[in-house]
Amino acid sequence: MVKHTGENYYISTAIAYASGKPHIGNTYEIVLADSIARFRRMQGYQVYFQTGTDEHGQKIENKAEEKGCTPQQYVDDVASEIHRIWDLMNTSYDKFIRTTDAYHVRQVQKIFKKFYEQGDIYKGHYEGWYCTPCESFWTDSQLVDGKCPDCGRPVTRAKEEAYFFRMSKYAPRLIEYINEHPEFIQPVSRKNEMMNNFLLPGLQDLCVSRTSFKWGIPVDFDDKHVVYVWLDALTNYITGLGYDADGNSSEQYKKFWPADLHLVGKDIIRFHTIYWPIFLMALGEPLPKQVFGHPWLIQADGKMSKSKGNVIYADDLVNLFGVDAVRYFVLHEMPFENDGVISWELMVERLNSDLANTLGNLVNRTISMSNKYFGGIVEDKNVNDPVDDQLKSVVTETAGKVEEKMKGLHVADSITEIFALFKRCNKYIDETMPWALAKDETKKDRLATVLYNLAESITIGASLLEPYMPETTERILKQLNTGKRDYADADKFGLYKSGTKVTEEPEILFARQDLKDVMEKVEEIRKGQKATSGEAAQSGTAGEGADAAGEEKPEIHVEPKAEITYDDFAKMQFAVGEVLECREVPKSKKLLVSQIKFGDQTRQIVSGIKKWYKPEEMVGKKVMCLINLKPAKLAGLESQGMILAAEDSEGNVTLMTPEKDMPSGSGIS
Ligand code: MSP
Repeated sequence: MVKHTGENYYISTAIAYASGKPHIGNTYEIVLADSIARFRRMQGYQVYFQTGTDEHGQKIENKAEEKGCTPQQYVDDVASEIHRIWDLMNTSYDKFIRTTDAYHVRQVQKIFKKFYEQGDIYKGHYEGWYCTPCESFWTDSQLVDGKCPDCGRPVTRAKEEAYFFRMSKYAPRLIEYINEHPEFIQPVSRKNEMMNNFLLPGLQDLCVSRTSFKWGIPVDFDDKHVVYVWLDALTNYITGLGYDADGNSSEQYKKFWPADLHLVGKDIIRFHTIYWPIFLMALGEPLPKQVFGHPWLIQADGKMSKSKGNVIYADDLVNLFGVDAVRYFVLHEMPFENDGVISWELMVERLNSDLANTLGNLVNRTISMSNKYFGGIVEDKNVNDPVDDQLKSVVTETAGKVEEKMKGLHVADSITEIFALFKRCNKYIDETMPWALAKDETKKDRLATVLYNLAESITIGASLLEPYMPETTERILKQLNTGKRDYADADKFGLYKSGTKVTEEPEILFARQDLKDVMEKVEEIRKGQKATSGEAAQSGTAGEGADAAGEEKPEIHVEPKAEITYDDFAKMQFAVGEVLECREVPKSKKLLVSQIKFGDQTRQIVSGIKKWYKPEEMVGKKVMCLINLKPAKLAGLESQGMILAAEDSEGNVTLMTPEKDMPSGSGIS
């Protein structure tokens, strides 16, 4: 394999909001980043891996007040908890930055001043709707049903003197950059979302200071203001490396900037692909090479809530299954683009089948048989069979396949490739039947060769597994009494030293577990959580990154309307329509206009669903509509009916569609 010795690689995670203990969803991101960082190190890169905590903002100020401590004490506690969990998960970050670090604070002040002096920031007034959890201002037209368009929570009216950043000045350059660098925003679907929903309709200037609370970095030339939390947080990616706004940046900065990869959740991709690049352009610094918006880890039994006692924390999982099993679950269960689902049943299933059976048994059998038949000595006697070639080709091709998948950040698929190697080894045992060979003295050398081939294959597989399950790699290689295979040689077969003596007592890598026992322990954890659910809140509802997995939401209150008679109801004509065409309404942030077929007629319907549906997704859908509503003009277009949709308390919207396919025009009653 080709090594990249001497090349640099900078990877970062989002910095976690220091508002509470991170749950398994937040933890997933650092483990994902760690697997990529470790993989690059294995390839020979000199890696710089940065993570940390985002510690300012009104939400934290409020939480500290509730708890009766200073915001600094509050974030000190939470940051150390986050630190502890990142370490527990065996993540190999090089730097843990905190936005309360003195160096960071000083640089943010300098950056703000620089923007002001060069005319990118100006002072004005902001009057609008403010969403406290998101720390964001919205205009009337941006609200969705009177609520925050990002998190769906209520907003309050606010007027503030504020500083603004001239986003629009840089927008054309950013559009050009994104078009010229198709790899910049990944996955590609996110790129289209950013372009179509934000950049192309026109960027508004961004409010970058606040006066309504104190817990932030003061604007040093106007200390009534604190710096907007996202301007503060995003700059961590350069201040952590030693960037200096006065031009005295560190060698480290010169070596590693621009970052190769900012790994962030799908919810905060906008900040990283629009605001952050624009701030960098204003600083005259190069842009990161790639921003990857990963999907979310969702829990199978609904949203996590402390009062339900179903929040999954990494440390509870580690106590039950061990660090590497947890790393395996989260990395293996996460698809590239769609959210991944985690459940106790699935974890137990993976533990028993993939980890205990496929991997654990393979290592155990190989070592036990080597001890039983050869006193632990593994020797290549070169008595070959065509079946060996099949094994060898799978084993030697694995590194290349893993590299290919990792290049596109398809981490789950890389792990699948490595487990395909282990599965092939198990098949090889079934094919060669060492226990049968052992019965025939003349086949002794063949038996030795088979066990050698297995030891060599496991060495390669275990070495490739290191980025994902580092402890397991170490434990396997220790039992095989060998070192990690250099990546350059991961596609060569036969380097395991013939004559090596393996351990006498193979250890159980992963003990099988019974779902019933696990669920009993889970019940205990749940009771503990419920008992403390009134205590410190959990994290995840951070910045604009409201966290569906971590949020505790009350049941929706259904507000009763005045009773109607059947005759009232019968006046309304509902029908199934098929969307033939759909496009965005020019200059509207919310509206799509669709041509919808109802049997032998077609109607034009304008609806406020642009935030949830792309025009191309609409085409071909069968939707339920009210068709005898008096036509009305919306954004200058006539709307001849209404598409029905459900909306939850957070403002999430989903279209009503027939449960089974029905012809367009079918009536609904
Ligand atoms: N503080 C901001 C990031 C600032 S970066 C300059 C923030 N913090 S957060 O704590 O809310 O989220 C940290 C990361 O965890 C984000 O990338 C977010 O998308 C991710 N996740 C939060 N919940 C998650 C899941 N359920 N699953 C996967 N990732 C999740 O946003």
